[in-house]
Amino acid sequence: MESRKYYTKITTHVLQEMKLKGEKIAMLTGYDYSMARILDESGIEVILVGDSASNVMAGHKTTLPITLDEMIYHAGSVVRGVSRALVVVDLPFGTYQGNSIEALHSAIRIMKESGASGIKIEGGKEVIASVDRILSAGIPVMGHLGLTPQAIHKFGTYVVRATEKDEADKLVTDAHLLEKAGCFAIVLEKIPARLAAQVTSELKIPTIGIGAGSSVDGQVLVLHDMLGITQNFSPRYLRRYHNLTEEIKGSVTAYINDVKSGEFPNEREQY
Ligand code: KIV
Repeated sequence: MESRKYYTKITTHVLQEMKLKGEKIAMLTGYDYSMARILDESGIEVILVGDSASNVMAGHKTTLPITLDEMIYHAGSVVRGVSRALVVVDLPFGTYQGNSIEALHSAIRIMKESGASGIKIEGGKEVIASVDRILSAGIPVMGHLGLTPQAIHKFGTYVVRATEKDEADKLVTDAHLLEKAGCFAIVLEKIPARLAAQVTSELKIPTIGIGAGSSVDGQVLVLHDMLGITQNFSPRYLRRYHNLTEEIKGSVTAYINDVKSGEFPNEREQY
C-alpha cells in the first residue's frame, strides 16, 4: 500500500512540495474554533476562513457585506483551534480593491490580530498592485480567479466562468501574473476543467479548485455545503458528504420531546 508523507506542520513550502510530488491538497473553509479543531484533527491541510462566512455564518445573500473586523473575529477563532493546518483568510470586499496601501493595512491587521498564516485576494491584473504591496511585507498571498463572488454584481450570475476565449485568455494571463508576483497558490473557481488543467500544468505554484475539475493540485469546498448544513444550494461540483441538517434536526427533536415528557434529565443527570 502506498504511504503518504505526513507533514507535521503545513506551510506554504509544504504546499509547493506537495505539488512537486503530485500529492493533492485538501482545503475546506472554517469559521469557528470548534469546527477548526475538528478539521485540523482530521488532517485537513488548509483551512480557508472564507468570506463565505458572510453567507453561511451571517445569513447575507452575498459575500459583500462582511467586514474586516468580522473576518478577523472568525480568523482568530479558527487559529485558536488549529495546530497543524495552514490558515488562510479572505480579504473582504472593499478592503483591498483600488488602494494597495489600504490592502496592506487590511492584510497586516488580519495577520497581527488573528495569527493567521496568509491572506487570499480575488482578482488578477486589477489587484496586482495590492498583491505586490502585501507580499512586500512578507505576507503570503493566495490568488483567486474564475468565479470571484465579490464581483457577483459585475457577473450578474453564478454560472461557470471563462467559457469564452477572451475570458479564458485573461484568466491564464492573470494566473501567470499572480505567480510572477509571488503568490503561493491560486484558487480556481467554477471554470471549465480543461482550462483549469492548462493553468495547473503551466504554473509552478499549486492550484486549488472548486468546480474546476480533477486536474488541479487540490480541492476546496465550503464546509457547510459539504456537510449538508446549507440548504437549497446544489451546484454540480458540490459533493455532499453528510446531511447534517437532518442529523441536527433529529437530535433537537429528540431533546425537545425528552424535555416536554420530563424524560430529561433523569436521576443520573442531576445532583
Ligand atoms: O469564501 C470562500 O469560501 C471561498 C471559497 C469558495 C474558495 O472563497
